Amino acid sequence: PNAPLLAPSLLAGDHGALAASAQVAAEAGAPWLHLDIMDGHFVPNLSFGPETLAALRRAGLKTFFDTHLMLSEPHRYADAFAKAGANLISIHIEPAYDHRATLARIRALGCQCGIVLNPGTPASAIEPLLDAVDLVLVMTVQPGFGGQPFRADMLPKLREIDGWRRSRGLNFRLEVDGGIDLGTAAQCRAAGTDTFVAGTSFFKASDQAAFAAAMAAL
Ligand code: DX5
Ligand code: ZN
Repeated sequence: PNAPLLAPSLLAGDHGALAASAQVAAEAGAPWLHLDIMDGHFVPNLSFGPETLAALRRAGLKTFFDTHLMLSEPHRYADAFAKAGANLISIHIEPAYDHRATLARIRALGCQCGIVLNPGTPASAIEPLLDAVDLVLVMTVQPGFGGQPFRADMLPKLREIDGWRRSRGLNFRLEVDGGIDLGTAAQCRAAGTDTFVAGTSFFKASDQAAFAAAMAAL
């Protein structure tokens, strides 16, 4: 199995000082930074755009940018996020557009690609795309806002996707996002998850380096 990996979500950082918050995550030892991009349409909230990623790069951030596009038309924005410094770009399965072509485009841009499912979407929806992705992101809350409670009813979905990964000899990462803390992460780890987004729990932790170390030891 893949080693556990922490991706703090900058959504829970200080929006008046995003580079400083991103630096806190990097200095705590988190290898990835999770960037939540919202369009006010696919989800009922707005966050930030490609210029923010570019500004973080200009500020010297060298961490892996795990970019989660919560957009109705992600195919229109993949190029801009790649150019702005994304390392991985994840797109949702729910909106209607050419998912396979968009995943291929993301790879052609030199990024890794991921597919994301909302809590109400069954694993079977992404099953045909498993050979085309570097990561599967299972939402453990309805996306749009940080600070929501973890949905334990997503654990069977994680086991199902992990089972396909094993039986097919695939090696995409399996990520969870929403309500993740050390306790819920341990439950997801037991269900096959290797990549953990943590917003509120990370930025509210009193010792962020200890939090990152505990996540890396799951
Ligand atoms: C939800 C976002 C998450 C969110 C997680 O729309 O995709 O990444 O920031 O926040 P917490 O960890 O606070 O649930
Ligand atoms: Zn996210």
